[in-house]
Amino acid sequence: MRELPPFEYAPLSPEHLRDPYPLFQRAHREAPVFFSPAFQLWIVTRYDDIWTVLKDPERFSSAASTTVGTEVPQEVRAVLSEGYGEVDTLVTNDPPAHTRFRSLVNKAFTPRRVAEREEHIREIAGRLVDGFAGDGQADLVARFAVPLPLTVIAEILGVPTSDLATFKRWSDDITARLMPLPLERQVECARSLVEFQHYVSGMLDERERDPRDDMLTDLLNARIAGVEPLTRAEMLSMLQQILVAGNETTTSLIGNMVALYAYRPDEWRAIGADPSLAPAVVEEVLRLESPVQGLFRTTTEEVELGGATLPKGAHLQLLYGAANRDEAHFPESDELRPGRPNGAAHLAFGGGVHFCLGAALARLEGRIALETLTRRLPEIRLDPIRPSVRRPHFFLRGFEQLWITWKVVP
Ligand code: HEM
Repeated sequence: MRELPPFEYAPLSPEHLRDPYPLFQRAHREAPVFFSPAFQLWIVTRYDDIWTVLKDPERFSSAASTTVGTEVPQEVRAVLSEGYGEVDTLVTNDPPAHTRFRSLVNKAFTPRRVAEREEHIREIAGRLVDGFAGDGQADLVARFAVPLPLTVIAEILGVPTSDLATFKRWSDDITARLMPLPLERQVECARSLVEFQHYVSGMLDERERDPRDDMLTDLLNARIAGVEPLTRAEMLSMLQQILVAGNETTTSLIGNMVALYAYRPDEWRAIGADPSLAPAVVEEVLRLESPVQGLFRTTTEEVELGGATLPKGAHLQLLYGAANRDEAHFPESDELRPGRPNGAAHLAFGGGVHFCLGAALARLEGRIALETLTRRLPEIRLDPIRPSVRRPHFFLRGFEQLWITWKVVP
């Protein structure tokens, strides 16, 4: 088994949270696929090896794609039994079952549905900045990067503003379940999931009685000839995944953009003056500081990958964040260079059958966030007194707090 002596894979260590990239570069050179005994995980770091896995869901199953590897305790299962259960639909499923879910949800997540949100997302972003622009300082995460995607998703689902705080708590708790937690907290988070399921199921009932021009109604009506329509539990599972997959990831993208450009005041101002620069910046930040650093797969048979032999049943982490710094594909990969010739070929949204369902929405929100912030706050700096705090997470890379300052022009 190949390991990386003398330092180990420790994604939650302060050094790794600050700068994981030297480890990734060393792995590319010395052991592109290596085993972490601490997590019983095979770590895959090269772009080409990750693509090999993504293109082959038969040998690399997604059944446990979002779990580091823990069992669900009885106490948690008891709480979940009061809801609609947990059905594997999108991210934790394989073809052919996955194909059915994906084709049906695609019907509710069309480019038209995303594009028609643009003006409204712009309004939400503007309103959020109105709330703190006069203060000269803010935690950008709490005031902007969290509420923007949360409000967008809540509105897509039709959640009234009065329920937004509860909705946020559910979203946080459901997302927290992606990491190992103490039992008490696991039970609390499972309760939030059950509350969310009943709440959304109530909204689906309303749409059944009174259809609207929205995503929930699209989901209820999603039909394809020869394909079994979705059950209620399946719809709820997909909506839960959309909630989890869409919030913290987009929050991280926005925070990562601001943190990188706080050191580049001229470039920040240039984007404000010419918003046509924004899409390439969003792509490059997704590549350089990928919000989802890596997700998991399980081998269904013994396989050779990147010079290593993985047994059947091996748990792998596909380090998208490392693939996106692979010099073989992105020369001078540690540099922020918007407009690289292959700038959109990064793996920040994964690839293959599980390619991110919300990529178009995330790109749109990232672009609007950047355009709005560069125009409204052209002179930001990182706060010299209050340090930013990274989110301590096994595979999500972003900030928990990001304090910035600017001069208020009366
Ligand atoms: C910057 C923001 C985002 C990033 C970096 C991101 C990243 C990813 C990645 C890497 C995957 C692949 C999972 C795998 O390999 O197993 C994925 C899948 C997925 N994403 Fe995103 N995502 C973002 C935003 C969103 C948004 C806004 C939504 C929904 C509104 C969303 C919904 C999903 C869903 C449902 C899947 C599962 C698709 C499937 O398995 O077929 N994501 N995302």
